[in-house]
Amino acid sequence: MCGIIGCVAEEPVAGILLEGLKRVEYRGYDSAGMATISGSRLAVRKGAGRVSAIEEARGMSSMLGKVGMAHTRWATHGSVTDENAHPHASCGELVAVVHNGIVDNYISLKKGLLAKGHKFRSETDTEVIAHLIEDEYKRTRDPLRATLAGVKKLRGQYAVVVMFQDRPDVMTGARKDAPLIVGVGEGMMFLASDVLAFIGHTDRTIFLDNYEAVEITKDGVKIVGPDGKRVKREPDQVAWELSDATKSDYAHYTLKEINEQPRTVVSASVQDAGKVERFARAIRKAKSLYITASGTSYHAGLLMKFRLNKEARIRADVVVAGELKEHAEFLEKGSVLVALSQSGETADVMEGVREAKGRGVRVCSIVNAAGSSLARESDEVLLLNCGPEVGVAATKSFTAQVVVVNLVVDAVLGKTRPGGAEELSRAVAEALKCDGLVQELVSAYADRPDFYFVARGYESPLALEGALKLKELSYIHAEGMPASELKHGTLALIEKGTPVVVINPSGPNHAESLANAEELRARGADVIGVSDVKDEVYKHFVRVPKVQPKFTPVVEAIPLQLLAYRMSVARRNDPDYPRNLAKSVTVK
Ligand code: G6P
Repeated sequence: MCGIIGCVAEEPVAGILLEGLKRVEYRGYDSAGMATISGSRLAVRKGAGRVSAIEEARGMSSMLGKVGMAHTRWATHGSVTDENAHPHASCGELVAVVHNGIVDNYISLKKGLLAKGHKFRSETDTEVIAHLIEDEYKRTRDPLRATLAGVKKLRGQYAVVVMFQDRPDVMTGARKDAPLIVGVGEGMMFLASDVLAFIGHTDRTIFLDNYEAVEITKDGVKIVGPDGKRVKREPDQVAWELSDATKSDYAHYTLKEINEQPRTVVSASVQDAGKVERFARAIRKAKSLYITASGTSYHAGLLMKFRLNKEARIRADVVVAGELKEHAEFLEKGSVLVALSQSGETADVMEGVREAKGRGVRVCSIVNAAGSSLARESDEVLLLNCGPEVGVAATKSFTAQVVVVNLVVDAVLGKTRPGGAEELSRAVAEALKCDGLVQELVSAYADRPDFYFVARGYESPLALEGALKLKELSYIHAEGMPASELKHGTLALIEKGTPVVVINPSGPNHAESLANAEELRARGADVIGVSDVKDEVYKHFVRVPKVQPKFTPVVEAIPLQLLAYRMSVARRNDPDYPRNLAKSVTVK
């Protein structure tokens, strides 16, 4: 969940690190810090707060040195304090580390280190890594061997980057179940938790595998396996560009990403037909089919299940990723697991995928981040092609998922060239015009404590998604549910003026949803209709264009995303960095 960037270069690195750190801040934003080595002196500046605040307060930009690393934290062990911010140095200041993950056995390791005389300055699990590697380094005087020997004692998950005070020419790293990527530049080399950290400097990347360790110099990379033997791997080129990772003229990444959707629904639809067919064939032949994901991706999974059930008559179980292990006994050879994830690093998803693979299940994934753990560990992969998503709340990745899911289901149904992407793109552009109306809704309801979202059938996951977006960004309590469920409890909460969004496209469920809207109105609710057809039951009406039924969630998502975004701004939240959340949840 934390963001890491490290760099060894032939020029001072503080500016490069800060720029990269801001781009990975979405991974966690409780605290920030940086360490550099200059003239054989290890300097660490850090504190609790957002990167820009710590930069200003501690003067990180003026730190000297051609080797350095920086970190942005999402707290797990130890509260949000200056001392608990990374980097953490060993007691002799010989070694400094930054870490993303959780060290499960840190208490026993800490006891052993304290007994040996090590002095601890923080409450974090991470600090044990610095002391462990310091011990190994004193013994071996070899940064890479010391790193490998140190991390071998850890249980849990880690991506660590390590600096050695007397070796300003090198930096090491190691990973297990948390991403660590080498950026191969000209006269500069990077270790980072995300390609975005160094995208302006190089697009050549090497993704480390679990249990590997790496040593970089300004122009060299040495990767070793857990046995210490050299591993040869050529860099891959990533398709993302620097402009993808900036806000352009938008106030926030989230708004930029919402507005990119007329383009990204098209790029998502450009897929290798052979790969789509292999994916579809795996589904057709599956002995049993499971779909798993977390958060917004889970809602895309629900949409996939719906079409597979209804149109392809294929039974599929959708299980929230963190719960998949509870159903493990059903994951058997011949089954297929479809995993959906924007980041491809969500710990819950990866745990489920590994459990399934261990049981001989074929894993087919739909993922945005090429080279991510999910992409590399799956048997079949389709990429979302929607560019990096920086805003913590998923927006364009959701609509891209719906597009790719539809391509797969169409292929399962034998429709190999479904088309419709350009038409969908125009409809999304049209849907975006509702922003003014959404702002009126925000003025009317920004002070309401609760919001409800209801829908029926294929749209039901959209009710969940609308509520999730609003909670994440505005901090307003929101619930989404099938409209049929209202009368089984939630109607008791409806009072005069309660806003209820009814997502209700023309189609087989339209009349029943209108009846639910009437029931809501009769109990005083302010009904907000999202539909291609107006009705007098709606107090407010957001028109979305009529599209093919399989694409309705794409156009309906737009006003729901804008509502959450505008509400966040009106309530003076930061929509890109909602409190307590992180985009890439790499801990369980
Ligand atoms: C986090 C994000 C959500 C996202 C979920 C799953 O909770 O804040 O926006 O939907 O993770 O992420 P994934 O990368 O697996 O799609």
